Amino acid sequence: MARSALLNVMVQAAVKAGKSLSRDFGEVQNLQVSVKGPSDFVSQADLKAEKIVHDELMKARPTYGFLGEESEEIIGTDGAHRWIVDPLDGTTNFLHGIPQFAVSIALERNGEVVAGVIFNPATDELYTAERGGGAFLNDRRLRVASRRVLSDCVIGCGVPHLGRGNHGKFLVELRHVMGEAAGIRRMGAAALDLAYVAAGRLDGFWEVELSPWDVAAGLVLIREAGGFISDMKGSTNIFESRSVVAGNEHIHKALLEVANRPVPTR
Ligand code: IPD
Ligand code: CA
Ligand code: CA
Ligand code: CA
Repeated sequence: MARSALLNVMVQAAVKAGKSLSRDFGEVQNLQVSVKGPSDFVSQADLKAEKIVHDELMKARPTYGFLGEESEEIIGTDGAHRWIVDPLDGTTNFLHGIPQFAVSIALERNGEVVAGVIFNPATDELYTAERGGGAFLNDRRLRVASRRVLSDCVIGCGVPHLGRGNHGKFLVELRHVMGEAAGIRRMGAAALDLAYVAAGRLDGFWEVELSPWDVAAGLVLIREAGGFISDMKGSTNIFESRSVVAGNEHIHKALLEVANRPVPTR
């Protein structure tokens, strides 16, 4: 597997931030935590990891823009390129000592995501993808799962916080998928959920109210692993609509159909 110079920069940044997260994970009870909104926390670990990623990426490409979850967006002088970074995806897991969290870094060129890296330092799993170059977990080439019917599938989802997003619609979707799929998982780190779809661990995934940094790297991983990813309406305007549905051709279609069933009014 040959990685481009840019992908190497992204990998280095993710691994360096991952080391910082691993150290903080060992001392999680001593971290300062603040609350940004309902069920939305940020800790010193998030901020440190974002600074590491920012410094590494900007050192390598000072003219690129930078969109990170925990800082003001930097508009690049380059105009064509933007880094999209979640320094710690799965903060709630992290703060509870659950080793399901990751650093997620994507590179956008002229509005298209062209490379993505997702690194879980707790399991030492490094997911990488570049447009046209395939998707990998460490050195292993990835392919989405091949199951064709929901009744054989394990499907991941996100659970919108009560009072945020359309909770009622989610419960209807959940009831449908629960009735039709072999199993449901709520793992708590959207970037890793998407990486799991690329790796064929999850057959499909859906979630609403996501931000670009939650999905950007996963998007290219899934496409490069032969999967399909769209918003709830089937469009590729994922960053605008903030929703995501993913899987192989068949499961993506089945989940879209579930998500677009009419919601009973009572
Ligand atoms: C969150 C996680 C979670 C998802 C939330 C995200 P964060 O990201 O990805 O799985 O359900 O919507 O905000 O805040 O831990 O980076
Ligand atoms: Ca957050
Ligand atoms: Ca996130
Ligand atoms: Ca985050």
